[in-house]
Amino acid sequence: MSTEQHLHWHTESVSNLDREALLGQKGAMIWFTGLSASGKSTLANATALALHGYRKLTFVLDGDNIRQGLNQNLGFSPRDREENIRRIAHVGKLFTDAGIIVLTAFISPYRKDRDLARILTAPGRFIEVHVDASVPTCENRDQKGLYQKARAGEIPEFTGVSAPYEPPENPEVRIDANTLTIDQGRDQILAFLKDRGLVFY
Ligand code: ADX
Repeated sequence: MSTEQHLHWHTESVSNLDREALLGQKGAMIWFTGLSASGKSTLANATALALHGYRKLTFVLDGDNIRQGLNQNLGFSPRDREENIRRIAHVGKLFTDAGIIVLTAFISPYRKDRDLARILTAPGRFIEVHVDASVPTCENRDQKGLYQKARAGEIPEFTGVSAPYEPPENPEVRIDANTLTIDQGRDQILAFLKDRGLVFY
């Protein structure tokens, strides 16, 4: 394909390793997945804040924000969600190549789309975090009132109500978001990163 399109990959003069040496950290992608209102963004931000406290360079990519800019032309059909995640996976890869610890908070309901993000990321640098909260739990929180609207038929293809969510089969971390507090969830993630020698070394 690249020859047909006359594209050539340019090698960079400063490598990933050079950047990581400068920053004193390794790039990684912490990929939060779960239903709307499960707590992905809150957990991603709480984890980023803790890592920042450890002087780690982080960046949070969040569905609600990215969909107002980079992905504002995308809706919620399976195809658009796939494209949403494909772009985020590639943007996330650029961040990790830059040496940054990127935390992504997208429903990312389809396994194959999340797997693309995993495949793009350097081995061992992709940490899938399933923010596992049931539909009733999310519906109870529903600060944005979206589940109510979805039940009333005002939002079509709403994940957990009228669109599917495929839970990860082997996530690196599974947070029981029905019962744990944000602090407990954050600490579970930090403990995993420390145990595996990821982010902390
Ligand atoms: S994803 O499925 O493509 O990964 P993403 O995380 O970017 O979704 O966006 C989800 C956010 O969009 C939700 O938190 C909610 O605020 C909003 N939203 C609007 N319509 C829908 C819908 N039909 N299904 C799920 N979320 C929706």
